[in-house]
Amino acid sequence: MSRGPAIEAFDVSRTYELDGVSVPALRGVSLTVGAGDYVALIGPSGSGKSTLMHLLGGLDRPSGGRLVIGGREVGTLSAPELARLRNETIGFVFQAFHLLPRTSAVDNVALPLVYRGVGARQRRERAAAMLGRVGLGHRLHHRPNQLSGGEQQRVAIARALVTDPTVLLADEPTGNLDSTTGAAVLELLERLNVESGVALVMVTHDAEVAARARRRIAMRDGVVVADTAASPAGGTAVSGRGGDAADGTRPADGGADA
Ligand SMILES: Nc1ncnc2c1ncn2[C@@H]1O[C@H](COP(=O)(O)OP(=O)(O)O)[C@@H](O)[C@H]1O
Ligand SMILES: [Mg+2]
Repeated sequence: MSRGPAIEAFDVSRTYELDGVSVPALRGVSLTVGAGDYVALIGPSGSGKSTLMHLLGGLDRPSGGRLVIGGREVGTLSAPELARLRNETIGFVFQAFHLLPRTSAVDNVALPLVYRGVGARQRRERAAAMLGRVGLGHRLHHRPNQLSGGEQQRVAIARALVTDPTVLLADEPTGNLDSTTGAAVLELLERLNVESGVALVMVTHDAEVAARARRRIAMRDGVVVADTAASPAGGTAVSGRGGDAADGTRPADGGADA
């Protein structure tokens, strides 16, 4: 797999046509999501955050500009090719969970593997293992309405990650949860970012949550108004020795370890 950026957007725009009126939701956004990044996407309601997330995840296409996901130029892909790229590269978590209501946790999580052609038995094994990683190994056969909100969001996170994507896009993942449950879900997302190296891009309205990310992108009126690397307490974003790259691309002394 390529070690290049996970997603690159160049001057991307998106205009919705609604009842004969053009709504310019994105007006030229350029950004790169690197492998293993942890980005908080902030900005007022209506500033284009969800529109951008849909584009970054290949759920929608730009009206203008270039978008490259996993090294593939989105504009050149057919709908089935884009769907396949999405399945291989991206996991989504939404505010409202979006689980299938009549389906058990394990079968909800296994669903993305159906589109991969993974056999039924292996699907269940991988889904059960992923549910174990999010702390729900004891809830495999519960349906969503038999689970708490926090548990439902953990199922959604397991479903997003069961395909081992390079990027997890989370649009207000704690927005429907009380603060204690939300904090636990956030900790889970952060742990998975560190453990599995999946890049995490998260929309949040919560300044405290945003402050924990390694990078903050602020939007307003369809454009990026700030893109700042943070040095969270206890961490250092930049080292002084000869331009070390935070993503580990600098050749190591004893040779590359990629
Ligand atoms: N499907 C749509 N059709 C028409 N306008 C839309 C659609 N989705 C979003 N918009 C408009 O685009 C702008 C950006 O919306 P959105 O990306 O949802 O913002 P945010 O997630 O930051 O609240 C808003 O003005 C919104 O009303
Ligand atoms: Mg939104």
